[in-house]
Amino acid sequence: MGFMFLRESIKAYQERDPAARSAVTVFLCYPGLHALIWHRMAHAMWRAHLYLPARLFAHMGRFLTGIEIHPAARIGRRLVIDHGMGVVIGETAEIGDDVTLYHQVTLGGISLAPGKRHPTIGNNVIIGAGAKVLGNITVGADARVGSNAVVLESVLPGATVVGIPARSVERKPAHDPHPLFDAYGTPAEGVADPLLRDIEQMRRELTALEARVAQLSAWPGTNQAAAE
Ligand SMILES: CC(C)(COP(=O)(O)OP(=O)(O)OC[C@H]1O[C@@H](n2cnc3c(N)ncnc32)[C@H](O)[C@@H]1OP(=O)(O)O)[C@@H](O)C(=O)NCCC(=O)NCCS
Repeated sequence: MGFMFLRESIKAYQERDPAARSAVTVFLCYPGLHALIWHRMAHAMWRAHLYLPARLFAHMGRFLTGIEIHPAARIGRRLVIDHGMGVVIGETAEIGDDVTLYHQVTLGGISLAPGKRHPTIGNNVIIGAGAKVLGNITVGADARVGSNAVVLESVLPGATVVGIPARSVERKPAHDPHPLFDAYGTPAEGVADPLLRDIEQMRRELTALEARVAQLSAWPGTNQAAAE
């Protein structure tokens, strides 16, 4: 187990998780880091064609951390899996350097056909809690995937995508004071999809218009038929 791997991974957690108080805490208490350690051993076995021991190690890692990483998955440096529980990383998934995943992220497949069927994630990508990235697609470097998004098509480098199915959104002027790592944006007004929010807004306006028409109709001398 490379000392370098541990050192830079722990540093990445400290940089990207404001709750990470010390290197010792990260080493002892961060399941994302533990899952990576299990994966490194399982992946080495997989590459040596020791498929059953590799699967057993991956299974142990999953049992202990709640994070399921197929031993064949290729993972770059300084991956941070924050919280971790429920993360699934499929067999042919590829992850670049400095990627951040939150809990319940799935890098999954949508086809039973053999070959590459899981996503490729570029460097510096952030994937929010609960997001599902599905199929042999690419999420370009520096892109961000909103929490609970379902991504079915490739994402351009630097883009931010949200919703189901995921669509690209414009960034509002920065409201997060942290300039380097700003994964913690939250959806406005509690509605998780921009399209649903627009529909909700139209519904509210329609209700207000109906109330206004009813009010006008009730005025003395108003012709009911004309108002309708
Ligand atoms: C996607 C994300 C990175 C965007 O952050 P941002 O660049 O600051 O984006 P903004 O807040 O300016 O939002 C841009 C638009 O997308 C919408 N949006 C943002 N996140 C969304 C989400 N997860 N789902 C649906 N819509 C979302 C916003 O409401 C806004 O829409 P509008 O322009 O119609 O008002 C962020 O919202 C996010 O989901 N981060 C993941 C956080 C997370 O998983 N944290 C777990 C911590 S335990």
